[in-house]
Amino acid sequence: MSVRARISGTGMYVPDRVVTNDDLTQWMDTSDEWIRQRSGIEERHWVEPGQVPSDLAEPAARAALDEAGLEADQIDCIVLATLSPEADFPGTSFFLQERLGGDVPCFDLRAQCSGFLFSLSVARSFVKSGQYKRVLVVGCEIHSTGIDISTEGRDVAVLFGDGAGAVVVEADDGTDDRSDILAVRMHAEGKYAKKLWIEAPGSGFQPTRITPELLEQKRHFPSMEGRQVFKHAVTRMPEVLMASLDEAGVKKDDVDWFFFHQANLRINEYVANALEIPANKTRNNIQRYGNCSAASIPMLLAEASRKGLLERGQLVSLTGFGSGFSWASATVRW
Ligand code: UT7
Repeated sequence: MSVRARISGTGMYVPDRVVTNDDLTQWMDTSDEWIRQRSGIEERHWVEPGQVPSDLAEPAARAALDEAGLEADQIDCIVLATLSPEADFPGTSFFLQERLGGDVPCFDLRAQCSGFLFSLSVARSFVKSGQYKRVLVVGCEIHSTGIDISTEGRDVAVLFGDGAGAVVVEADDGTDDRSDILAVRMHAEGKYAKKLWIEAPGSGFQPTRITPELLEQKRHFPSMEGRQVFKHAVTRMPEVLMASLDEAGVKKDDVDWFFFHQANLRINEYVANALEIPANKTRNNIQRYGNCSAASIPMLLAEASRKGLLERGQLVSLTGFGSGFSWASATVRW
């Protein structure tokens, strides 16, 4: 009988500084009305000068460990998903590991807004194969230092927030006979890589990876074809969600919770409508946090857990879409 891989703890952390839609109008030509109507976002949290990603990842990780009833030294491996690493190398996971103590293997995984679900799949495989018993999975982003907050960059800048979320994936210890990550389906389509990307710094640039010209041309800021992203997201998310449920042998109507990546409230409403998912089976927090990429789904889980919404034995579906394009869906018996 294969080992079950259960999510035994969740945690999240956002920096204290709240930036409202009205606050953004001091830097760019935008409005609260435009942002709310198009995305559902009301405010987001941005770091203060001097804060680094591991400042966010550490409290999120400690909260997840705490909920799992574990000490940091009981973890066998750390997988950290991010598109906004603390340094070019090594990954943010190394800075986090140093703070948590110990010398367990750690690495960063880059699959943008799908990064948490891709990492969950890696952790699940580690646990099910018997290689590791307890894997800490973290999603962590600081977007605010990497966006163009002038009017030129407003289509992207208004969407993103900073934050971290974490879960512990553990081998079933015999006390629970059902909890398991039942399936994770992942997809990628690199032909759309440049529809949502940051070009520089890049190792292909000569003579150096970043130059005054690149900075002047703003090629170190994200660029996005928003409508393309929207169109693909609302097609791929329902597809992969249903494929993941099929693989897990689960019926849609038996799922207790559907949690979606928090890129745009309209995308999530569209997906929920397309699959006839009742509103009381979903939760969104993009209104307060914006899009935190790899951190969004674990942040949602941590909030749901703190509110007492998640009960052992429930079926939980997690689905995301992002740059790459990449998309994924996990079906979890909580
Ligand atoms: O994890 C994946 C991350 N990204 C996404 O999922 C994003 C998916 N895409 C979207 O959510 C939407 O495409 C956006 C919310 C980004 C944009 O909504 P849209 O309805 O596609 O707007 P648009 O880009 O077509 O722009 C409409 C208008 C334009 O003005 P004109 O040309 O009609 O005069 C823009 O210049 O809105 C303007 N605009 C803004 N106005 C005020 C663009 N950004 C802003 C802004 N404030 N922040």
